[in-house]
This record gives sequence, structure tokens and C-alpha cells, in this order.
Amino acid sequence: MTTQPPGFHHIPVMVEEVFLWLRIEPQRVYADGTLGGGGHSEAILGLMKGSGILYGIDRDPDAIAATGERLKDHKNFRAIHGNFHDVKDLLPSGTKLSGGLLDLGVSSHQLDTKERGFSYHEDAPLDMRMDTSQGETAAELLNRISERELTQALYDFSDEKWAARIAKVLVERRQKYPLLTTGDLVEVVDAAIPKAVRRKDTAHPARRAFQAVRILVNAEITPLRQALDDWMDLMIPGARLCVITFHSIEDRVVKRAFQTMKNPCICPPKAPICTCGKTPIARILGGGAIAPAQTDVLQNPRARSAKLRVAERL
Ligand SMILES: C[S@@+](CC[C@H](N)C(=O)[O-])C[C@H]1O[C@@H](n2cnc3c(N)ncnc32)[C@H](O)[C@@H]1O
Repeated sequence: MTTQPPGFHHIPVMVEEVFLWLRIEPQRVYADGTLGGGGHSEAILGLMKGSGILYGIDRDPDAIAATGERLKDHKNFRAIHGNFHDVKDLLPSGTKLSGGLLDLGVSSHQLDTKERGFSYHEDAPLDMRMDTSQGETAAELLNRISERELTQALYDFSDEKWAARIAKVLVERRQKYPLLTTGDLVEVVDAAIPKAVRRKDTAHPARRAFQAVRILVNAEITPLRQALDDWMDLMIPGARLCVITFHSIEDRVVKRAFQTMKNPCICPPKAPICTCGKTPIARILGGGAIAPAQTDVLQNPRARSAKLRVAERL
């Protein structure tokens, strides 16, 4: 059981599975690229028994402050504010890892803190930045992006069928007055998707648009592929990289990255022998996507869509 400070809450998903696959041993160096409320990190620290080092990275200054404070008595824990895409610059030079964890997406704390602007259930400033210390807010981005770019992002990052309509309505609306709040974005989606379609949808009609805008604001997908290669590059032979995803778009990136690590050969499929010289750098464990246990889903509805993928450095 994790003990998070009042006001910071996030129930970690698939903790048992992460334990099983990461095979934590004392006196080794690990990195958690998505520290959040530190549920996974705290559990990992427990297995490290005070030895070795665990680096906990998060781009959210609130997560670093709250979880850094909570885990400060673990002398082998180092909290680092930054983007795990930059892992090679964030960790001390020469660091080699015995394992890494990426639990992608946003934390419950971020989603449920109204002022962060991630939720379509509350009217709040349209922010959505995980790193509140830098970068463009969702409002700034949505008030400048072209209709074409927005349509593409809605398709690419949320499979939104009404992408073109939403982008058109949004651009028309911002010509009259800028979008400022989450409520403004919900109104745009409501105006763009026909009422009959909205009525049939069991989930909130704005959920896909919010997901796409969040991914866009935080550049979550495009740099992920390179980031996974960089993480694998830092691993010692036998070390495992565990990645938990929550939607098919990010899961597809992880799946393809791991497949390429397993089979990087770019020779034509009919070539009698390999001439490209690219050799496998990892093997895939667990037979592909690992689903959460039913108990996890019952305890935490956000675990429903979780998938864990594990690759081991050769
Ligand atoms: C699903 S939560 C992780 C929860 C964590 N495993 C726990 O046990 O509490 C995702 C966290 O990763 C952070 N995050 C997401 N993408 C990131 C990135 N590219 N670099 C650093 N942190 C990131 C978010 O700010 C958020 O705090």
C-alpha cells in the first residue's frame, strides 16, 4: 500500500506485474521515467532495500515536489524534473540501467486537479500542460493551430471520426472569441458532433478531442519512438524495460519499437541472407501486450485500458 501526501492521489496500476517483470535486485540502478505519485517507485525502493539507486523522472513540477518530499527518506532515491524523452541528458553521464519503467499518460492527480485543465467534467482554464513551468497551453495552441493540423491531430491522436467538423467549428468559433476554458472546448465538440450521435455515445463526447489536444500540447507521441530506443540503449544486458500504455495510439508505438528492437533487419524479405548488418538488441517478453488482473481493474477503473509491454536487452 502506498502512502501519498494529502491532495496527491494516484493508484498505480499493474504493480504486481511490474514487479514480476522488472526483477528488482538490490545494489543496482533503475529509472522510473514517469514518477507521478511514486506508487511504483516506492514499491521498487522497497525491493532495493536501501542499496543501489532509483532515479524518478517526471516533467510535472508538482509530482516532483510532492513525491520527492514523500520519498526523501530513501537515501538511494533521486527525483529529477524533466522529460523522459531526454533521459540521456537527465541521468548522470555514463549511467547504465538494470531496468526501467514508463507508465505513460497523465496521473489521476493531474486529471482530477481542476485548474490543470485536463478534465472535460469541470470548467477551468484550458491548460493541459504536464510541465507547468514551460511550453504552450492548450488555449494558446488551439487559438493558433491551422484547421488542417488540428483535423490531422484529432484523427492521429484519438481516431476521432468527427475530426474535420470539430476543427472547422473550432476555427469559426475562435474568429469571434478565443477559446479560454475547458468548457469552451466541450462546447465546440458539442456543436460539431450531431446530437443523435452524441446521445448514442455511452462515454463523454469530448473525451477523444481532449485526449488528442493533451497529446498535442505535451508532444507525447512523436518523440516516443526515439525515447524508447534511448532507454534501451542505457540498459545493461538482461535489463528490462517495462512500458504501460493506456490507449491504442501509444501502445502501437511501443509495440512497433519493441518489434524493431527484436528484428531490426531491413533486408528485402526474400533476400537469401542478411546484408544490412543490423542485429537484434532486445527480445520481447510476456508474449506481447500483458493485461491487468481483474482485481486491479476492480480496484481502479483507470486500469481497464492498461497494457504492459516488456522488452529485455540482449
Ligand atoms: C500514469 S502517471 C504515473 C504514475 C506513477 N507510476 C505512480 O505510481 O504514481 C504518469 C506520470 O508521468 C508523467 N509523464 C508523462 N509523460 C512524461 C514524460 N514524457 N516525461 C516525464 N514525465 C512524464 C506525468 O506528468 C505523470 O505524473
